[in-house]
Parts: sequence; structure tokens; C-alpha cells
Amino acid sequence: MDTILKLQHVSKQFGRFQALNDVSFTVNRGDIYGLIGENGAGKTTIMRLITHLSPLNSGSITLLGEQAPHYQQALKHVGAAIETPAAFKKLTVKQNLTLAAIQHGIQDKQVITDNIHFVGLDEKATTKASKLSLGQRQRLGLALALLSQPDFLVLDEPINGWILLASCFSGTPEETESRTEHHHFDFQPYFDRVISSLNEVWLHFSRSVY
Ligand SMILES: Nc1ncnc2c1ncn2[C@@H]1O[C@H](COP(=O)(O)OP(=O)(O)O)[C@@H](O)[C@H]1O
Ligand SMILES: [Mg+2]
Repeated sequence: MDTILKLQHVSKQFGRFQALNDVSFTVNRGDIYGLIGENGAGKTTIMRLITHLSPLNSGSITLLGEQAPHYQQALKHVGAAIETPAAFKKLTVKQNLTLAAIQHGIQDKQVITDNIHFVGLDEKATTKASKLSLGQRQRLGLALALLSQPDFLVLDEPINGWILLASCFSGTPEETESRTEHHHFDFQPYFDRVISSLNEVWLHFSRSVY
């Protein structure tokens, strides 16, 4: 089985505060892998460590065959939407994606249109990011993260992210979104095995899409 990501005994301290203590898990190619934990459990911290937005204190992270912090190629194959999406508020949806396409060296303009369509923002293509709803901003964040066709996608704020992914793949975005806005989201149908449970705070779920 192809290993995409492996965390071994990862710990992170902010000053004297221990945010993560000895976290280990593995994500294989084809897995949809979920981290569920209460506020402050360390989910975002883990994602920031994986994508090298934050330096590792101890332990090791192997991403696409390369070990942090020596990611020569790995990050080029990763798409991420962590915390607030990296969109420019004064630019429209399309302008944001056009700018990101230039940064990624993507010449084919059709890729931009396809991504806007995939996340269901066709009607908002010429709307400035600042005028989007929270869910729409997250859709833009996903479109930006998907633009370079990454091998590994990291999405923070799992509820919205999951709903979005689930709805994109099931083809019923509006229905799914309106259901979940008003009710507690039931994760269970989207996962097929519980990997591990640490300290009763963490629940790791995984589902293979292959
Ligand atoms: N840059 C930072 N400096 C100090 N403490 C931080 C920093 N980033 C996160 N923390 C702390 O680490 C803990 C985990 O935060 P975070 O990973 O954002 O949690 P989650 O995403 O699970 O809600 C929290 O207690 C938070 O206050
Ligand atoms: Mg968080």
C-alpha cells in the first residue's frame, strides 16, 4: 500500500504549552482521513506541521516520501485550505483562481472554469471574495487548493470541508449543505473504519475511495 503521509511521535510546544503530545498516524493513497477533536485539540496545529507552515519540535513527518522539513518536491503535490482560505478579498472568484494558476504555471484557462464549476461557484465567478458567504468562501478555498491537481489535499474545518467534498462527489451540493446547516452532521456514513482513539479527544477516521 502506498503511504502518502506518516507522522511518528510528533509533539509540538508553543513556549511551555504542550499543544501535541506524541501523535502518530499514517494516511495511505486513496484514503479520506479525518481528524475529529474538540476546539484546541490540535487539529490545525497538525495540518500546519504537515504543510510546513509551522516548524516541528520533535518526532518525524514523512510526506510523499520526503521528510520534514526537507520537502524538496512534496509540497508541490499538496493542496491545502487551512483556517481562512488564501483568497484575496478584493479579487473576484475567477481573478483569484487566475492569479493562483499563474503562480502554479498553469496555462490552460479551462482548468479555472472547470474548478469553479466543480465547487459550484459558476454564478459567483465574477463576485469579489469579500462578498461571498462563509460556505462560498470555503468553496473558493477548495477550488484554490485543487487547482494544481494535488496528490494530497489537506482541508481544515472538517465539517464544512467534508460536506463540500461529500456533496461534490455525490452531486447534490445544495441538499447536503442545507441539511447540514441546521442539523448535527453525521460523519459515520462517510467513513468505514475508525483507526484509533487517543485520550478520548481524538478520533481518527478513514475511508478508502479506491
Ligand atoms: N501559534 C500559537 N501559539 C501559542 N499557542 C498556540 C498557537 N497555535 C495554537 N496554539 C494552541 O494550541 C492548541 C491547539 O490549537 P489548534 O491546533 O488550533 O486546535 P484545533 O484546530 O484542534 O481547534 C490550542 O490550545 C491553541 O491555543
Ligand atoms: Mg482548528
